[in-house]
Amino acid sequence: MIRFILNNKLIETFDKSGITLLDFIRDKNQLKGTKIGCREGDCGACTILVGTLKNDTVNYKSITSCISPLGNANGKHIVTVEGINLEKELNVAQQVMADNFATQCGFCTPGFVVSMTGFALQNKENSNTCTDAISGNICRCTGYKSIEKAVNVLEKKLLTIDETDQVAVLIKEEFLPNYFKTIPERLKQLTFAPWLNVSGGNFVANGTDLYVRHADVLSQQNVNLVGDVASLKGITITDTICKIGASVTVTEILKNEDLIEVFPKLKDFLKLVSSEQIRNMGTIGGNFVNASPIGDMSIFFLALNSTLHIIKESERQIPYQEFYKDYKKYDLREGELIAAISFEIPDTNTKFNFEKVSKRTHLDIASVNSACKITLENELITAASFSVGGVAAVPKFLSKTNAFLKGKKLSAENIKEAEKVLQTEITPISDVRGTNIYKRLLARQLFFAHFVELYPDRIELGELI
Ligand code: FES
Ligand code: FES
Repeated sequence: MIRFILNNKLIETFDKSGITLLDFIRDKNQLKGTKIGCREGDCGACTILVGTLKNDTVNYKSITSCISPLGNANGKHIVTVEGINLEKELNVAQQVMADNFATQCGFCTPGFVVSMTGFALQNKENSNTCTDAISGNICRCTGYKSIEKAVNVLEKKLLTIDETDQVAVLIKEEFLPNYFKTIPERLKQLTFAPWLNVSGGNFVANGTDLYVRHADVLSQQNVNLVGDVASLKGITITDTICKIGASVTVTEILKNEDLIEVFPKLKDFLKLVSSEQIRNMGTIGGNFVNASPIGDMSIFFLALNSTLHIIKESERQIPYQEFYKDYKKYDLREGELIAAISFEIPDTNTKFNFEKVSKRTHLDIASVNSACKITLENELITAASFSVGGVAAVPKFLSKTNAFLKGKKLSAENIKEAEKVLQTEITPISDVRGTNIYKRLLARQLFFAHFVELYPDRIELGELI
């Protein structure tokens, strides 16, 4: 049985764990405020909040319910737009949307309102803005200026409130209805069993891409849910090694202070990955087995010369560079699961960078993306590790280019020669994200961008192009 609280109501259901939360909410509970737009996580019309109990408080995050399995609601508080209605008046998020004429047909509005409420529920230490919080919501008729005005008003209101007891204050200030204060205690009382070891069921973390492609099939099943399995979570950093569980989400990486210390520009890099809702769901393990040639996290971790930890009865480890065999084919045998990825912490002579070009800055798949790790000692490149996506059948580790650069002096001349080697290693095809010629050009530009970004005192763009 799956047990959770939907808005203010206890749910106990034997429905398949693989059915989407969206269908469960709309069809089985007649809560029609959660809209169906794209069913691909792209439009945000189906945005809901998921509250997870941790040390007496409930942490809320926004997700897109169209690509999320029902079973992941187990033990949590699921909030739809109906669940944030006050008894009589509009709540603050609804009111600022109305006051600023930020709604026309209204189809997208519940999604925006839920994302804005999710922002209000976040800790103020979070460096997100409310605009970040709605990065996964699309409106096709109002125009974004009035929505921007509305979120700015909401943000200003939040600045003035004391957050000692955040939920209590948000109830008092009419962001949330009263029943929210009862949720922590009610979640504590909830007993539930995890959905694992379902015979024949597919492994699913939080859904996302798997549900874009296979929602019809997965909805008919009880699936093996690994998104909350403790042994697949966690980020540990020792002096030299960082290990990240496969079920860690992009948001969890982005907010990890230890990782930010290792990669000071981590937030800038990862804000280019999809949208807030999808980052809250998407796991790194999911991104790896999706095997998209332009998977952002694949490209990121390839350049770090990472090691994959794969489990079944026992664990085996392989270099991540050897994982991909051909388009969507990889070294994972029947019943095996990626448990974690680990990599050496870059030393003081080593720098890392990530670049991405896509048609839209946010919520878009890359045309080409690239990452690099360069070690420089006494003007010599002693190690180079470049990866590039969107230019081959697999996320590409540039072995020949890396080998060419090793031992070379850091100079514009050598970078230009290395770029010629890079072009021999890639085989882009023309598709909706650009022609093969355009992608070759992007691969070149991003390759050069790494050096200009990392060594601005030594390398100037003008010397390279
Ligand atoms: Fe578009 Fe879910 S329906 S994101
Ligand atoms: Fe119509 Fe946003 S108000 S899509």
